[in-house]
Amino acid sequence: MPKTINRRDALKLALAGGVATTLQACGSRLSHGAGVNTATVERFQAALPIPPVLQPARSDEHGDYYEIEARESTATIVPGKHTLIWGYNGIFPGPTIKVTRGRATHVKFTSKLQTPVVAHLHGGHTPPDSDGWPTDVIFPAGHQVPATAMAMGHMGHPGPMSEASALKYEHNYTYPNDQRAATLWYHDHAMGATGHNVYMGLAGFYLVEDEQEGSLPLPRGRYDIPLMLCVRQFDHDGSLLFNPHGHAGAEGDVILVNGAPWPALQVERRKYRFRILNASNATTFTLALSSALPFVQIATDGGLMARPVEVPRISMAMAERVEVVIDFSVYSQGDSVVLQNIEKQGPLGEIMRFDISGPAVSDPSELPEQLSVIEALTPEAAVRTRTFTFGPRPELKLHSPPIYWAINGQRFDPEYAQAGPRLGDVEIWHFVYEKSPWRQTHPPHVHLVNFQILDRNGQPPHAHERGWKDTLRLDSGEDVRVIMRFDGYRGRYLMHCHNLEHEDYDMMMRFDVV
Ligand code: C2O
Ligand code: CU
Repeated sequence: MPKTINRRDALKLALAGGVATTLQACGSRLSHGAGVNTATVERFQAALPIPPVLQPARSDEHGDYYEIEARESTATIVPGKHTLIWGYNGIFPGPTIKVTRGRATHVKFTSKLQTPVVAHLHGGHTPPDSDGWPTDVIFPAGHQVPATAMAMGHMGHPGPMSEASALKYEHNYTYPNDQRAATLWYHDHAMGATGHNVYMGLAGFYLVEDEQEGSLPLPRGRYDIPLMLCVRQFDHDGSLLFNPHGHAGAEGDVILVNGAPWPALQVERRKYRFRILNASNATTFTLALSSALPFVQIATDGGLMARPVEVPRISMAMAERVEVVIDFSVYSQGDSVVLQNIEKQGPLGEIMRFDISGPAVSDPSELPEQLSVIEALTPEAAVRTRTFTFGPRPELKLHSPPIYWAINGQRFDPEYAQAGPRLGDVEIWHFVYEKSPWRQTHPPHVHLVNFQILDRNGQPPHAHERGWKDTLRLDSGEDVRVIMRFDGYRGRYLMHCHNLEHEDYDMMMRFDVV
């Protein structure tokens, strides 16, 4: 039952968000400068945490039923300190959901946070009413909007909350999982607050498995490890500092992997599969190994590539995923290999460390020459090309930092669809980075579909991005053409920049599959 959101609803949301912002003051500190003690966090001391796999509350012939609640809790992230976080089921990263292609997942989603939240399955081939529309938010059961907020108007308009309207206290999402095996993730998507909500911890892995992928002799079980990379900033007392730098983006000086700062992982001398996600709000990475050996990449955002590819470095914009196989049997016992971020110097230049332990072990896993079959979409199949420019709002180009970001000069309007592809059509979307003094990466992300990159600045795509994708890196001055088929569902969806502060203000657009 898709609900039409009109402008009044949008205002209501903006207002509810405003109320929540006041309450959020106790959740995270707004920072305007230094005040961090993270130079004192010793690197490679914490053991890499692995998020637990969530068990369904029940299962029947219609699928598996999960319950997820967004709530506050405390975690030890900086040694010796307690950090208030917002976590799905109280943990950060949230629990991992593991599903099988063709078997539906049902998630009953509730919240105890005094702020609007909505969950989105990033990379999911999802019907529109389960896609996590930014205004389709929920509140804690019984939550009342304060009377003052009801009476208050928005810029002189009558208060939208004065109308009796039910706040929602839960959302039941259905994910059909009618898609190939891939590393997806779920995260908050509330209008104007996604950046803060995700920064506080609302993100988790969602792994789709299928028969084809399952038949390959790839590393499995405890040798198949998800790595959620993100950057955060902490105050002296260990609390999270959220500094969106205007709307430039919340960065930081501590790298967390699965919620732990610069962790280490003891590895056996054999092959491992790592599913790497850049879950940062606004930080890009370029991965490399300190041993200078290449990665063997096996998957992109949308699952397995056609065949493994050796890549010395892998660039990752926000929300992109790559899967790599690292063979530690080529190292000796006692060796250490650092996963580096060669884009940055200093603390952000190192991510985590692999400590090689034990004698050579027998390794039943193998790297097949062929991983999967990828149907290449060709430009001839496309019925049209649409161009989308990413830049600051035109009249504010010289404002520092930009107040709003725009796609084709327009700010996000939940009521207005900027594109209406027909169900089943193949289209080319041309993403163009509009030059401005702010040379930040804008990673375009398209909901519902997976695309293939046709070309990047007129050249073939990089080796590490030749496969199914849903997000791509778009740096200053670049332009990238992607091709995709809009199949599965009609309805409203989103395309946006995955710098979460750009998304919040307002580099996002609605498109309707018609
Ligand atoms: Cu990862 Cu629209 O989001
Ligand atoms: Cu952006």
